[in-house]
Amino acid sequence: MHNHSFPKNILLIGFMGSGKSTVGRLLASHLGFRFVDTDTLIVEAAGMPISEIFATRGEAAFRDLETETLKSLGAREHLIIATGGGIVVREGNIPLLRQTGFVVELKADEETIFARVSRNTQRPLLQTENPRATIAKLVAERAPLYEAAAEFSIDTTTKTHAQVAEAIIHAAEGLTVR
Ligand code: S3P
Repeated sequence: MHNHSFPKNILLIGFMGSGKSTVGRLLASHLGFRFVDTDTLIVEAAGMPISEIFATRGEAAFRDLETETLKSLGAREHLIIATGGGIVVREGNIPLLRQTGFVVELKADEETIFARVSRNTQRPLLQTENPRATIAKLVAERAPLYEAAAEFSIDTTTKTHAQVAEAIIHAAEGLTVR
């Protein structure tokens, strides 16, 4: 006899452009959960856009705000939480992610990521001479961190957002309490 329990929250991790915000909104509407995005919470708390936080206070200050934001969500429930692509860079965030809910990694191949992120210039880490090469470098560094943090991973490259959301709900429903 299995004892199933739906997670209190679902967190979406993965590289910039992997679809966290779009899939997250869809999950929230399917489940009747509230959608939150750590980047948005940080921008609201800091009172300035992410590009300005990086420019005036530096990446380390942004990472501090990111960890604080993650901690502030730990006591809440019925949330779909989209996280910034770099949330796994501070290894101390991985146990915080796990304590907060079911951690799902969204993947996409590098060409797909490049095509998706090329549409906007809001991401300070990609304002380099060769964004395609920057993506390759960051993906190589981070892939093992996403793998370590995630309880479930799904490749979004050839799926619709609805298919991805369905698969995540199915995985969350199958969780068993021991
Ligand atoms: C970052 C990803 C961004 C944002 C910031 C840093 C990263 O979030 O947190 O620009 O280090 O990968 P998205 O993944 O939502 O673009």
